Amino acid sequence: MIFDVNSIRQDFPNLHQTVNGKPLVYLDNAASTHKPQSVIEAVRKFYSEYNANVHRALYRYATEATEAYEASRDKVARLINAPDRRSIIFTSGTTESINLIAYAWGRHNLGPGDEILVTEMEHHSNLIPWQLTARDTGATLKFIPITADGALDLSNPDQYFTARTKLVAFIQQSNVFGTINPAKQIIEMAHQVGALTIVDAAQSVPHHQVDMTELDCDFLAFSGHKMLGPTGIGVLYGKPELLEAMEPFLGGGEMIQSVTMEKSTWNEIPWKFEAGTPKIAQVIGLGTAIDYITAIGFEAIVKYEKELTDYALSALSALEGITIHGNAHQRGPVISFNVKDVHPHDLAQFLDQEGIAIRAGHHCTQPIMQKLGVPATSRASFSLYNTKAEIDILIESIANTIRFMTG
Ligand SMILES: Cc1ncc(COP(=O)(O)O)c(C=O)c1O
Repeated sequence: MIFDVNSIRQDFPNLHQTVNGKPLVYLDNAASTHKPQSVIEAVRKFYSEYNANVHRALYRYATEATEAYEASRDKVARLINAPDRRSIIFTSGTTESINLIAYAWGRHNLGPGDEILVTEMEHHSNLIPWQLTARDTGATLKFIPITADGALDLSNPDQYFTARTKLVAFIQQSNVFGTINPAKQIIEMAHQVGALTIVDAAQSVPHHQVDMTELDCDFLAFSGHKMLGPTGIGVLYGKPELLEAMEPFLGGGEMIQSVTMEKSTWNEIPWKFEAGTPKIAQVIGLGTAIDYITAIGFEAIVKYEKELTDYALSALSALEGITIHGNAHQRGPVISFNVKDVHPHDLAQFLDQEGIAIRAGHHCTQPIMQKLGVPATSRASFSLYNTKAEIDILIESIANTIRFMTG
C-alpha cells in the first residue's frame, strides 16, 4: 500500500475540527490518538446491530458478539507475533495490565531480600505498582539510571542485575524522551539472573513492530487508545505457563470453572483474568484499529513518523532558547522541550489559541522532571496522520510565543 497521508487524514473525522476558528493541529498523540472512521463504525455497529454479552448465551447476537470479541484476540496475537492466543488478556489499559502482574504475580512471589528492578525513565504506571508491591511484600526497588541524553545507562549491569533480582519492569519507548530502549538486551540480562520481565509497551506497540517471539519477554502491556483504538481497552501479554501458574487478579463471573459456597476453581487462561462482563465494544474497536494499522504496515509507519520527527527536531532546535530533552539515536515520534523564560503551560495555552494541541506537564513522570530540574516540559508527539505542514505551524507559533513572551 502506498503511504498517502492526505488520504489517511480523510479517515479521521476528528482531524477536521477547528479550534478558535483555526484548523486543529493535534500533536498530543502520545497521550491518546484519534480514531479512524472504521473504528468508530465498528463500535457503532456492535451497539446498534448485535449488542449482547459474550461467552454465555446461545442466541444469534450473543454468538456474533463472542466471535467478534475472540477474533480481536487473534488480531492482537498476530500483531505482536504471540504464538499462543491464550497469552492475550484484555484489560482496561496499560495501567491495569501492569497492576494485574503486581497483584496476581508480585504479591505471591516476592518477599524480603527480593529485588524489583525498574528504570528512572518509567511512567508512573510502571513505578507506583512496584512501589506498592515493594511496600506490601518487603521486596526492594532498584533503578537503572538514565544518562544526560535520556537513554538508559546500562554500563554497569552487574550492579543492577543480580541473583536477588526477581522482576525487571521497564519502558520500551519513553513517553518523554522518545528513546527506544534496547529491550531484547535488557530481557536477556534479566533472564541470565533468573528474573522475569514486564515491558511497558504503551508507546512502542503503536509505532513499530513489537514481536513476542523475538523479544522473549514474560509480560508486556499496552493500551488501545494510543493506537487508534477506543479508550478503556488494553492488553496484557503473558507467557501461557506463567499465566497458568498465577493466582487470579479479580474474582467474579467468567473467571471461574466451578463454584461452591466454600471454594471455586478457575477458568482456563486467558478468561481466568477477564472477570465480569468484558469490554466488548472496545475489544471489537481495537481489532478494527489493528486492521487499520496492519493495512498500512509498520514499515511505512516507521519511515513516515521518523521523517516527521527528524523534520520537527531540526526545526525546533533552530529556534532560539529551546532545550530538547533526550537525544537517543533510536527514538520514536515524541519530543519534549523547554523554552527559555516561557513556562510550558503558558506555551500550551498560546498554542491552543492557534488550534495547536500539545501537552504541557510532567507526563506522569515526576522523577524524570526532578532529574531534569524542571517542573514540567512541553511535548509534541506525532502519529501517522500528522504532516510537515502541521509542524511548520507549530514552529511558527512557538516562535511567535517566544517573541510575545520575551519581547
Ligand atoms: C509509557 C506509558 N506507560 C503507561 C501509560 C498508561 O497508559 P494508560 O493510561 O492507557 O493505562 C502511558 C500513558 O500515557 C504511557 O505513556
